[in-house]
Amino acid sequence: MERNRIKLEFLVHDLKVPLAVIEAGLLSLLQKTDKYGPLTEKQTRVLERALRNTIVTRTLVNDVLELGRSSAGIMSKNRFETARFIGETMIEIFDLSDQTLAEEIRLQKSLPELKQVLARRGIVLDIGEDLWARELCLDESKVRQVLRNLLNNALKYRKNRVAIGVETRDRCLCISVSDDGEGIPSSYHRKIFECYFQMDMKTEHCVRGHGLGLAGVMVLIEDMGGELALDSDMGKGATFTVKIPM
Ligand SMILES: Nc1ncnc2c1ncn2[C@@H]1O[C@H](COP(=O)(O)OP(=O)(O)OP(=O)(O)O)[C@@H](O)[C@H]1O
Ligand SMILES: [Mg+2]
Repeated sequence: MERNRIKLEFLVHDLKVPLAVIEAGLLSLLQKTDKYGPLTEKQTRVLERALRNTIVTRTLVNDVLELGRSSAGIMSKNRFETARFIGETMIEIFDLSDQTLAEEIRLQKSLPELKQVLARRGIVLDIGEDLWARELCLDESKVRQVLRNLLNNALKYRKNRVAIGVETRDRCLCISVSDDGEGIPSSYHRKIFECYFQMDMKTEHCVRGHGLGLAGVMVLIEDMGGELALDSDMGKGATFTVKIPM
């Protein structure tokens, strides 16, 4: 690995310690009220939000390191429950944009209940009960990062609806994420996977992004030996379909 790249990753790596200290401190204030004193409801809410966002930052730091590990060709598969993987990825996303929804997802006890909660926000989750209750054996953090980025884009660019489909086919995990937004003209179907490329630099969306998500998604999918297909055109919405061998 190139020296500068190692230095950069080392810096990111070392963010883990201060973040862990912040996280532990916030947790202590929230949980050990006998030691640190009681909290008002408002204080609790502020601390909980700070804690959730510290956790998001920790996840992002891990994702940066994951990308590095991935380009070094290191794979690590583990067993994980489909339900937990999808539920937690959604909570992570909505904890920043829609905390009420994140809390509702957290409280869901069954798949039909979760589907209903999401449907009320225009999100269709299409997955069978068997797969929901099953375990998958893949590189979990990579698969999460792929779903998180595709779903974040769909939520960012949709008009009203987003649909997520998850199934297993030909010994592969297939995830599709669709939205009903402006869509992507075919002349941009390659370009959007390049680093820092954003279709319309003028819209306010671009301020919130870096044009890095899809480039990262592509690297991860290639490293897992998977495929990504894009079906989209101007005014037609977009469907990203990912197929990852298990
Ligand atoms: N679902 C979508 N609908 C329409 N355009 C999209 C969609 N997903 C991606 N794009 C286009 O592709 C570009 C690149 O996407 P990418 O996810 O790489 O970057 P980003 O979302 O702008 O920023 P970030 O680095 O935060 O992900 C976007 O800026 C947007 O122009
Ligand atoms: Mg993005």
